[in-house]
Amino acid sequence: MTTSGKKILCIGAGYVGGPTMAMIAAKCPEYRVTVVDINTERIAAWNSEKLPIYEPGLDVLVQSARGRNLFFSTDVQSGIRDADIIFVSVNTPTKKYGEGAGMAADLQYWEKTAREIKANSKGPKIIVEKSTLPVKTALAMEQILKENNSVQFEVLSNPEFLAEGSAIKDLQNPDRVLIGSRETKAGIAARNELVKIYEHWVPREKIITSNIWSSELSKLVANAFLAQRLSSINAISALCEATDAHVGEVANAVGTDSRIGSKFLNASLGFGGSCFEKDILNLSYLARQYNLPEVADYWHSVIRMNTYQKDRFVKRMLAAMFNTLAGKKIALFGFAFKANTGDTRESPAIFVAQKLFEEQAEIIVTDPAALTQAKIDLQRCEGRVAYEADPYKAAKDADAIAVCTEWDAYKTLDYKKIFASMRKPAFIFDGRNILDHESLFKIGFNVYPLGQPELTHLQKTEK
Ligand code: NAD
Ligand code: UGA
Repeated sequence: MTTSGKKILCIGAGYVGGPTMAMIAAKCPEYRVTVVDINTERIAAWNSEKLPIYEPGLDVLVQSARGRNLFFSTDVQSGIRDADIIFVSVNTPTKKYGEGAGMAADLQYWEKTAREIKANSKGPKIIVEKSTLPVKTALAMEQILKENNSVQFEVLSNPEFLAEGSAIKDLQNPDRVLIGSRETKAGIAARNELVKIYEHWVPREKIITSNIWSSELSKLVANAFLAQRLSSINAISALCEATDAHVGEVANAVGTDSRIGSKFLNASLGFGGSCFEKDILNLSYLARQYNLPEVADYWHSVIRMNTYQKDRFVKRMLAAMFNTLAGKKIALFGFAFKANTGDTRESPAIFVAQKLFEEQAEIIVTDPAALTQAKIDLQRCEGRVAYEADPYKAAKDADAIAVCTEWDAYKTLDYKKIFASMRKPAFIFDGRNILDHESLFKIGFNVYPLGQPELTHLQKTEK
């Protein structure tokens, strides 16, 4: 296969397609990079001053390359015709219908793309799986592309490991880049084409090459391991609350063992984000398909623990606030699934808001970047939910604050002022353990950190 290596197309201009292609364009000025999407609004936003996603450093990166060698377009067909290398970065959500509903990956967008590539390709192309996919998807891609077709295609797997909120940093300085290929002459040649692109800024020893199935599986496994750590520490947070141990101290004591490591051990009200749950469901479903029910159950328990943790957070609020939340005003500090992003997909705050709604609480949501999306997510709660950009106004007359996202801005608010404006007794539930609990207690709050004993001015009831 000959490719000039000069024309790259990415199908799917989302959280992955946009930033990854902006980085490639910025680092490889001799390549022409086009990102296409069927979503016209999204493409218009990529071409505007207000990008469709909030990600620190993204604006500057896009501005450095847009119009030079980075282009956003809705013309998928001519994009395919012109490209030598096509990244496919479409969404692969959990299937909501039919066989495997609620578990399997919904591959309809993926397959549609494969058929579109086939229909519009006249010359040889390298197809790169960027989306997260079940193992052996490359085989399906190859079969669709090669059936009744003389055009030469080589399919590679190049999963993305960036995390939202730190996407640009992660892309700039990745722990590793993974490229899986067929171990044929053509497969290895295609793999080398992709290595050549990343080598523009990633040290060669960080570019791992492997067989294509290992690469596809590694992406699911990496997310499963990360989420498993979170469910592990969250499970321990429940035990800490029951025993007066402090989860932060336990995480520190455990994480200083270099075999375990200290990262990704912050207990929280539960993990969110578009991928952890869907990818573990996908992994678990795969294990079941291969008749490995014990493996499937093991991984599925990571999700069960996460649901338990979110539920436990609300139950603790209910118990603390005298077993009734009806008519009480509760301010949710943060709605995004993590700080530094406006993304709310699978945010634990959605779960919390819905449970509070069922308890007939009055909810007020504040978030520096996710309020527009929160309004869409909480349509079901209409009538008892309000939105307020200013956290001081959100907390006014509230009975309780629940910290759902670890935005830095919440660490430095004037909590004396906030306390004075709230109904008493005033409660604060820190679902991220980012606040100074002792000083909040001294101000007068009843403080409920996660995985730690509560600090309250109320008369203690028996545990
Ligand atoms: P996204 O929903 O933000 O973007 C996907 C885009 O693909 C959408 O804009 C959609 O309109 C477009 N699309 C769908 N079908 C199309 C078609 N036929 N032609 C053109 N465009 C089409 O999704 P995302 O968060 O960018 O995730 C994409 C993939 O990357 C998923 O498989 C995900 O699991 C994986 N991933 C995501 C992240 C993350 O942080 N979000 C990180 C690593 C991997
Ligand atoms: C995650 C992985 O970290 C990425 O490597 C992967 O590429 C991506 O999924 C994906 O495949 O989509 P992301 O979901 O963007 O990235 O963000 P994370 O930083 O992993 O956070 C996920 C959730 O875990 C968030 O709700 C976060 O608040 C929570 N979390 C994280 C904790 O509760 N405690 C921690 O210590 C770390």
